[in-house]
Amino acid sequence: MIKNFRKYRINELTRDIYAETRLSPSDFITPFFVVRGNRVKQEIRSLPGVYHLSNDSLLFEIEALLTKGINKVLLFGVPDNSEKDETGTAAYSEGNLVSTTVTEIKRKFPEVVVFTDICMCGYTSHGHCGILKGEYVNNESTLPYLSKMAVTYAAAGADFVAPSAMMDGQVHAIRSGLDSNKLFNTKILSYSAKYASSFYGPFRDAAHSAPAFGDRKTYQMDYRNVNQAIAEISADIEESADMVMVKPAHTYLDIISKARDNFPEIKIAGYFVSGEYSIVCFASQKGIVDEIPAFREVHTAIKRAGADFIITYYNPPEGFFI
Ligand code: PBG
Repeated sequence: MIKNFRKYRINELTRDIYAETRLSPSDFITPFFVVRGNRVKQEIRSLPGVYHLSNDSLLFEIEALLTKGINKVLLFGVPDNSEKDETGTAAYSEGNLVSTTVTEIKRKFPEVVVFTDICMCGYTSHGHCGILKGEYVNNESTLPYLSKMAVTYAAAGADFVAPSAMMDGQVHAIRSGLDSNKLFNTKILSYSAKYASSFYGPFRDAAHSAPAFGDRKTYQMDYRNVNQAIAEISADIEESADMVMVKPAHTYLDIISKARDNFPEIKIAGYFVSGEYSIVCFASQKGIVDEIPAFREVHTAIKRAGADFIITYYNPPEGFFI
């Protein structure tokens, strides 16, 4: 007997009944690039619709997101070049960019969940994610800096700190730092399976964080590996990560799916990274794809693969969530 599958697709109403995956504004985490100044809102050339924002401008953007039901943000500080040094002091010094921003967001919009990126690359003069010994990023000497940065942002009110440096033991170091400062309720979103990817290009433009020499292959994962991603995630969960990330997301759906199967209880975020986002933007500008349905499809795919949350630059227009 031939089965009638097409009866589930006869019209939109019926398709909705049988849809296994639904996108919702509560799935979205929106990244922002924060700069010093007032009334700054400058579009990033390689990331259409994404801006360098000063605190005051950022608050307007967040207010607009809230009206769409999006209440989660991930903050990246973009300090002036003159603030950068070998050990990324501007990341954790008194009056640093991100702490001020976190406090202002929390004061104005307590209902917003604030995530802060924890990594040295935007703050070091050499653009690497940690402390150098010669030309090599040293794991041990980087950990105290990541911990210090996390404690600083947690004290300012961040709900989640999100280490993205790919140092071994970073989750443990950060948890210990938070606990010894009585920041017991601050959670850790670990960039557990973060691959050395070509798709971070526009981000590095935005964050001014490209490495001055070499690449990130000695710390970020080799994209030929899948079992290692599971091992990295497992280690982070043991070190007490509260949420884990697979990054990039769109080109790494298999990793999300395996992570979901292996760790049904952990929250997983997929990072639809800058290059992946820009590809869809520029393709739609060229008329190659239709913007809204294309973004809907890609975000749905990330959720279908098993992600609970999607970190995405996309600012969905009215009617996007159906
Ligand atoms: C910092 C960091 C990067 C991204 C997020 N955090 C860049 C990198 O590792 O070079 C990339 C995000 C994106 O491309 O959207 N380490």
